[in-house]
Amino acid sequence: MSQDDSTIYLNGSYLPRSQGSLSIDDRGFIFGDGVYEVFRAVDGELFQGRAHVTRLLRGLDALGIQIPGEVEDPGLLAIARSLLARNRHDTGQATIYLQVTRGAAPRTHHFPTPSVPPTILLYTSTFRHPEGLHEKGARCVLHSDRRWSRADIKSVNLLPNVLAKEAARKAGATEALFVRDGMLLEGSSTNLFGVLDGVLRTYPPANYILRGITRDVVLDLAAGHGIPTREEGIPMEELPRVSELFITGTTTDVLPVIQVDETSIGKGRPGPVTRRLQRALQEEMLRTGTPTG
Ligand SMILES: Cc1ncc(COP(=O)(O)O)c(C=O)c1O
Repeated sequence: MSQDDSTIYLNGSYLPRSQGSLSIDDRGFIFGDGVYEVFRAVDGELFQGRAHVTRLLRGLDALGIQIPGEVEDPGLLAIARSLLARNRHDTGQATIYLQVTRGAAPRTHHFPTPSVPPTILLYTSTFRHPEGLHEKGARCVLHSDRRWSRADIKSVNLLPNVLAKEAARKAGATEALFVRDGMLLEGSSTNLFGVLDGVLRTYPPANYILRGITRDVVLDLAAGHGIPTREEGIPMEELPRVSELFITGTTTDVLPVIQVDETSIGKGRPGPVTRRLQRALQEEMLRTGTPTG
């Protein structure tokens, strides 16, 4: 089935993607006033579905957007599963994109009064990793973090992330790593891990990063494998001493990083901790057969 023939969910209806349309007054379009999630599915089942919904509901709460009780929890997971079945993703891998905006209303910066129904959109896509990258490892560039200080909200305002990713692409790299006050924070659409003095480190879940679902799974897996971990950022100047570096995300999994700008990481090839966690995450994902919601 091509993407264009697939079924989407929009504001209570299942319809062909080609028939999905939104108001020009939608505040997602006008202000970027909304949040989103990307889920991963294996053989028709969502990986960490509940964790994604919990993060979404937290974001909606932070923005003061209310969604109807029946579409809340577990309704969103049920809609996602229904779409996977309708679009024949019951075998193989897929992603589900979910976006909720404050809805359509005449343009005022403040919230519409009275409030309007939110816009709720879900669609699915077939998923495949880029060939060879996970074996070989990726190159990254450093990028100054110019985002707002609520990067913990998965808002659709992604302009700094878009510009950073484009800068990476122009440099022939896979990801841009945000730097703030000399600290490595995360990638433009990924979290960042590094091994320094034998300890696996990643930035703590604060307002300057998005707390990735994959990040949390990887931290748990590392602990389960006896790998020492610490939620502490890595200063940019320590990069030459980092023995391994990798990025994580729902569509990235564990991706080794072998070079950042001109700095080669470790031995310039994916290291043993990265490899172990790559395998562990893959196994965890393949166990997804059982519903998580
Ligand atoms: C800025 C940022 N950090 C981290 C992540 C990784 O989060 P997750 O593992 O939940 O996909 C994302 C995912 O889109 C992101 O946009």
